[in-house]
Amino acid sequence: MDQADVVILGAGAAGLFCAGSLAGQGLRVVVLDHARDPGEKIRISGGGRCNFTNLGTSHQTFLSEVPRFCASALAGYRPEDFVALVDRAGIAWHEKAQGQLFCDGRATQIVRMLVDRMGLAELRLGVAVQGVTPGMPLRVETSAGPIEARHVVVSTGGKSIPKVGATGIGYDIAQATGHRIVETRPGLVPLTFAQQDLRLSAPLSGVAVTARASLPAAKAPRRAAVAFDDQLLFTHRGLSGPAILQISSYWRPGEELTLDLHSGDTAQALRQAKREGGRVQVATVLARLLPERLATAIVAEEGLEGARLADQPDARLGALVRRVHDWRIRPVGSEGYRTAEVTVGGVDCRDLDARTMASRHVPGLHFIGEVVDVTGWLGGYNFQWAWASGHAAARAI
Ligand code: FDA
Repeated sequence: MDQADVVILGAGAAGLFCAGSLAGQGLRVVVLDHARDPGEKIRISGGGRCNFTNLGTSHQTFLSEVPRFCASALAGYRPEDFVALVDRAGIAWHEKAQGQLFCDGRATQIVRMLVDRMGLAELRLGVAVQGVTPGMPLRVETSAGPIEARHVVVSTGGKSIPKVGATGIGYDIAQATGHRIVETRPGLVPLTFAQQDLRLSAPLSGVAVTARASLPAAKAPRRAAVAFDDQLLFTHRGLSGPAILQISSYWRPGEELTLDLHSGDTAQALRQAKREGGRVQVATVLARLLPERLATAIVAEEGLEGARLADQPDARLGALVRRVHDWRIRPVGSEGYRTAEVTVGGVDCRDLDARTMASRHVPGLHFIGEVVDVTGWLGGYNFQWAWASGHAAARAI
């Protein structure tokens, strides 16, 4: 029988990091992945430059049914710790916005750094994990035959982007071994519109605007009100851009989103322009505040094409202002796991120990990274969770 001290299932961000944190302890560590290369999601992340952490990481930048669950692991391994690792590896980086740290060069540098850091751990690629049988030792079924170990770390990630190797195997393993699963859904994903809403948005495909996307508080499932200020991008299927990706992780099918397309005071700008000489067209004034194509489309929708500002009663302009600052839209869905950056939900944190990521039901079994019901905002938080949870499990082993 093939045996190891620790078998890590998945050579993604969390699995590679956990293996590296176990290096030098004299343990026989085996890392399994069905892909041809390790760290495929790291390679494609951050537009190929890997947004490897966020300096503003806190438990408040994550979604989870147990909001404080991630705090302990995040405190045990901080963004600064990962930055020190990156610096030691000589990888150049820069801060883009809001604490988001990216490589100057290719994301593959991070993959190489993580693989080097694994030391003597054995990386077995092209091996599909099929299941785990509890017991001591635990037994892992794989396409290359079974392997036994005292510790098994499940780091098989979520369901997003099957094209780069994602499967739901981690959830299946968790469920089959007595763990609850918080319902999974695509997160950080573009939202799609019904045909009638596409009438306005599809012709605007490619237009970007700084906006606020918000959702009100909800009772079931319970959620506080949430809002994100960032770029919004019109697509031929609906909406994308960071503001929409962020809110998509909170959005539930059937819910209405509120969009504020201008951070300034549109009513005041219209009043001022009217005072200064109302011969100007409504569309001209609005195009000073919004991208021209967007301003033209909104004006047309409000029936104000070619209309002079001076001729408009306040009520008419009020409707226009509401359309800019309080646009209510009910997406019909999302682009799904095909393009989602993450999977929201996962292994229920109530079934795991927050300090060690160990199962409360199966001795020796750990869950780390995206497979756990801990989902970060856009901006490097998800990798920080992968590093921190991998580190926590390694420390406990
Ligand atoms: P991850 O998905 O990295 O690894 C899971 C591994 O398990 C994979 O290697 C997979 O092949 C393997 N596996 C799955 N099923 C298996 C089976 N049955 N048998 C064997 N192996 C199996 N985050 C961030 O912080 N900054 C960023 O810039 C980005 N950018 C980004 C871009 C895109 C396009 C995506 C899709 C995602 C991001 N993310 C991100 C999110 C980030 O990539 C993600 O949260 C982490 O990779 C999760 O790390 P894990 O190790 O948990 O899963």
